[in-house]
Amino acid sequence: MALFPASLPAAVPLLLILLVAAEPPAAYADTDGDRGMKWYSRVFAFGNSLTDTGNAAVFPVTAGGPFTMPPYGETYFGHPSGRASNGRLIVDFLVEGLKVPQPTPYLTGRTAADFLNGTNFAVGGATALDPAFLASKGIVTFVPISLSNETSWFENVVQLIKSSDYDQHRKIMASSVFYVGEISVNDYFFALMSNNSVNVAASLVPHIIGAIRSALTLRRPWIQSTPSSSISAMIAAGARTVAVSGMLPIGCEPQQPALFPGGPGDYDPATGCIARFNDLAELHNLALNKMLSELRLAHPGRTLIYADIYRPVVSAVASPASYGFGDTPLAACCGGGGGPYNFNFSTFCATPGRLPAPTRPSSSRGTGSTSRRLQTGSSHATC
Ligand SMILES: *[C@@H]1O[C@H](CO)[C@@H](O)[C@H](O)[C@H]1NC(C)=O
Ligand SMILES: *[C@@H]1O[C@H](CO)[C@@H](O)[C@H](O)[C@H]1NC(C)=O
Ligand SMILES: *[C@@H]1O[C@H](CO)[C@@H](O)[C@H](O)[C@H]1NC(C)=O
Ligand SMILES: *[C@@H]1O[C@H](CO)[C@@H](O)[C@H](O)[C@H]1NC(C)=O
Repeated sequence: MALFPASLPAAVPLLLILLVAAEPPAAYADTDGDRGMKWYSRVFAFGNSLTDTGNAAVFPVTAGGPFTMPPYGETYFGHPSGRASNGRLIVDFLVEGLKVPQPTPYLTGRTAADFLNGTNFAVGGATALDPAFLASKGIVTFVPISLSNETSWFENVVQLIKSSDYDQHRKIMASSVFYVGEISVNDYFFALMSNNSVNVAASLVPHIIGAIRSALTLRRPWIQSTPSSSISAMIAAGARTVAVSGMLPIGCEPQQPALFPGGPGDYDPATGCIARFNDLAELHNLALNKMLSELRLAHPGRTLIYADIYRPVVSAVASPASYGFGDTPLAACCGGGGGPYNFNFSTFCATPGRLPAPTRPSSSRGTGSTSRRLQTGSSHATC
């Protein structure tokens, strides 16, 4: 499951290019020190383990999980950092590219001052849909956090900022980048684990896209007990620049071919990934793009960016050498299990019995040793 993912080096430049290419809503005058004029001052991030920089590490259900132990964090930042990666996540590259501070993981902050550097609401293991809804479809989840929780937390932060500086809060939202990291790979994965039918997983797509749309625009209709005025989703709160990540190629995660072995016709010849799971990801990405197009029409003046993490990963899996990876891109680089995917839940990365971590990747791309692999843990591309 995507409790534990990573840096997608190939995807990051693309996202940054998209952000730079996007017309900034209005240049934001940052008068703090001599940094001069800059467009953005902070990042608010949402998502699951691909984006979490410290929430799951303190959330009671997941605290002390494998990602809090070595070798997670060994490349960055030299120790486990709450990230489900040996290194940096997409959001870290985003923050570095924008030259803004690291956002505070929501569960580690308390005051408006804590959150004014930006806030990361992502939680490893989170789902797009509420666990109760998934349970009603017979789908079992492990971490009781969904996008609606993250949106409520965002609302708490908005209220804190309003109460400390009401006049500035719109300006604060306008000068922030909202990054909605990949969310819902866990929904699909739990659906596949609960009922090995890609149709059941695919039936979630419209619900998931609806949940992402609500997080961007509307108060969530299913929070009936909450007065409508108190829930303002991102755009309602004044977000002007929002980047929404698409789905990764689910069929290329080592756990998928390891857990759902198929016949020869089930694998994509170019990548070796399970074709029907990648088709599910493409279905999701089409629906997400359609929804974003509708929102662009409905909200002129906002910049809504689709961040593609699908094609870069597929390219890296199809031609690992051109990205500096070894020749087993579908094998998890941490944990054990052997075989082409090196995945087995009983030897998950950083659990006792796991195999030693791989040699450190070379810092320059294209010269990685053959042990350099794309996948860490189970679904977290890195190394
Ligand atoms: C905010 O970011 C600045 C610059 O990186 C840092 O010095 C400061 O400690 C941060 N504040 C909080 C509350 O994290
Ligand atoms: C997440 O949302 C559910 C449903 O609204 C709520 O019952 C639960 O307390 C929330 N969890 C957290 C940690 O905020
Ligand atoms: C899986 O889904 C199919 C189609 O909806 C259904 O017929 C079947 O009973 C489900 N199986 C389980 C184990 O839930
Ligand atoms: C995973 O490891 C366990 C314990 O070594 C073993 O019994 C099981 O067969 C392995 N599963 C697979 C799919 O290799």
